[in-house]
Amino acid sequence: MAHKGKDMAETDTQKPEPANPDDLPEILKLQKLAFLSEAEALGDHSIQPLTQTLDELRAEFEKGPILVLRERGGPAILGSVRARQEGGLVYVAKLVVHPSHQNRGLGQTLLAAVEGLFGPQAKYVLHTNAKNPKNLHLYDKMGYREFKREKMTDRLNFVFLEKRLD
Ligand SMILES: CC(C)(COP(=O)(O)OP(=O)(O)OC[C@H]1O[C@@H](n2cnc3c(N)ncnc32)[C@H](O)[C@@H]1OP(=O)(O)O)[C@@H](O)C(=O)NCCC(=O)NCCS
Repeated sequence: MAHKGKDMAETDTQKPEPANPDDLPEILKLQKLAFLSEAEALGDHSIQPLTQTLDELRAEFEKGPILVLRERGGPAILGSVRARQEGGLVYVAKLVVHPSHQNRGLGQTLLAAVEGLFGPQAKYVLHTNAKNPKNLHLYDKMGYREFKREKMTDRLNFVFLEKRLD
């Protein structure tokens, strides 16, 4: 049976596509909106996704692809993800979906699309808040497995997850 959320994702949005330099301000705005819930859960608005500057995002854009999901029939960006390859490792980061479009499969669509950009030999690595049950569910469902944990602050532990496509 088809996944209800995935069906909705297909009707709501275009296919994930590479971002243009002109998209970066909107991506940064969406990132700050999406990570607000995380900042509030942590009681910390100084987390990096909220404080990142446009110049820093431009520098990241030089280092690896950024994908965007646009609304169907319009230019608005509903989701984004970025990646950077170093040797055989692909670091996936800043998977974000607009809060009013979450839980419809868009996050999984973006993650699957970024995995399609690199060869099957690559190992995919990402990290998330060890106390975020939604992110842990999503990444587990997409095949990511924990390989280490790191304490970042008194309230924040990162769990590092990896996935091999082969
Ligand atoms: C993480 C994020 C991109 C996911 O986007 P999304 O479009 O909502 O994700 P999807 O709809 O593809 O998948 C969400 C899954 O989590 C599940 N879920 C939702 N709330 C949950 C919760 N509280 N606990 C466990 N699972 C939950 C959904 O049911 C769905 O799983 P399913 O397909 O098995 O039903 C989005 O929540 C976001 O932008 N979060 C803020 C930024 C962030 O934390 N990014 C990740 C950085 S590591």
